[in-house]
Amino acid sequence: MSVLYEIPVELHSSRYRVMLGSELSTSIQSSELFQAASQIILVTNSTLEVLYSPFIELLFKEVTQAVVRVTLADGEHYKTWASLDKIHSAMLAAKCDRNCLVLAFGGGVVGDIAGFAAATYMRGVKFVQIPTTLLAQVDSSVGGKTAINHPLGKNMIGAFHQPSAVYADMALLQTLPKRELSAGIAEVIKHGLLADRALFDWLHLNMSALLAFNPTALLHVVKRSVEIKAKIVGEDETETGVRALLNLGHTFGHALEAVLGYGSWLHGEAVGCGLVLAGKLSQRLGMIHPTQVQKIEEVVASAHLPVRVPAEAPTQALLEAMLHDKKNQQGQLRFVVLEALGKATVQTVPLALAKEVIDKSR
Ligand SMILES: NC(=O)c1ccc[n+]([C@@H]2O[C@H](COP(=O)([O-])OP(=O)(O)OC[C@H]3O[C@@H](n4cnc5c(N)ncnc54)[C@H](O)[C@@H]3O)[C@@H](O)[C@H]2O)c1
Ligand SMILES: [Zn+2]
Repeated sequence: MSVLYEIPVELHSSRYRVMLGSELSTSIQSSELFQAASQIILVTNSTLEVLYSPFIELLFKEVTQAVVRVTLADGEHYKTWASLDKIHSAMLAAKCDRNCLVLAFGGGVVGDIAGFAAATYMRGVKFVQIPTTLLAQVDSSVGGKTAINHPLGKNMIGAFHQPSAVYADMALLQTLPKRELSAGIAEVIKHGLLADRALFDWLHLNMSALLAFNPTALLHVVKRSVEIKAKIVGEDETETGVRALLNLGHTFGHALEAVLGYGSWLHGEAVGCGLVLAGKLSQRLGMIHPTQVQKIEEVVASAHLPVRVPAEAPTQALLEAMLHDKKNQQGQLRFVVLEALGKATVQTVPLALAKEVIDKSR
């Protein structure tokens, strides 16, 4: 099998391609990047190392240079300084030089840590993303945000460091737990809502195919999502403007994650609920019609994502969390809201309005 689509990501600092297809290990191995690397550092987690040992074996079958393998424990809980140190230590022990290549094989957690390790080793070495979750394929592997968590804040220690290539392999998604699949779909719904009405309508009609892991359906949503994200990141690499639109549903979502306790809801689940809340806020501002909010709620619910704010997340705690969010400066609540299905904008919103929307969403 081979690469079916190549989507360019054009930035000021670099240019790379996102390769989409199925069973891509041979394509990756024969790539110029792979051939040119002095050493290759494979970063993955303990679950994927077992699940995909044949894929990984194939990846290194004809490789002549040294391969350094770093396997992290599985989970957001390990997106830490200690994991970063483990990668750097392995690279130093193997005497990796500036021409080495870090390979991130995993979901957003592995991608974010491995990317940050590559950003910081010898002031920056190349890295390639092989995202294995839908969320990582449609979102985190593209755009160059890398980070680890600090006990005082999620993703607080990080850097912008673009990958040299991304290989999104649809075959890898087949083993994804259903809950993780739904979490990834939340970010796809987000892309449809903020930039592509046709994608949103497609989701309305084809959700069951997606939930059944239909490869054609998966390929469609990954392709459109990557195209949308690539365009936005291309216009605003370091989030000083239009890139903020990608945070649609995330002000509410991050607050839900923080108040419920990280790990209680998956990020995508919180984003799903956040999209419904952002829709209601937009309606309250007179920007969209109640029937459009209804449709957002239907699509989110059809992906098996939550649409109601749970009792365990009190309104006051959510409001405080939103005021603490790093994206809300000077106590102003800035929200991405919808002007239409498929068109978003950023607006400052009074706290009382956000409170009203949360209270009416229980
Ligand atoms: N850099 C960015 O722009 C960006 C954007 C969004 C999210 N993120 C980050 O991404 C992280 C979340 O990523 P995620 O949702 O991919 O979670 P994850 O990386 O924790 O993966 C979810 C679970 O699925 C397992 N898994 C991964 N691939 C699998 C497969 N093919 N088959 C079976 N199981 C598989 C993992 O081992 C893990 O247990 C968060 O840390 C978040 O901060 C980063
Ligand atoms: Zn997100």
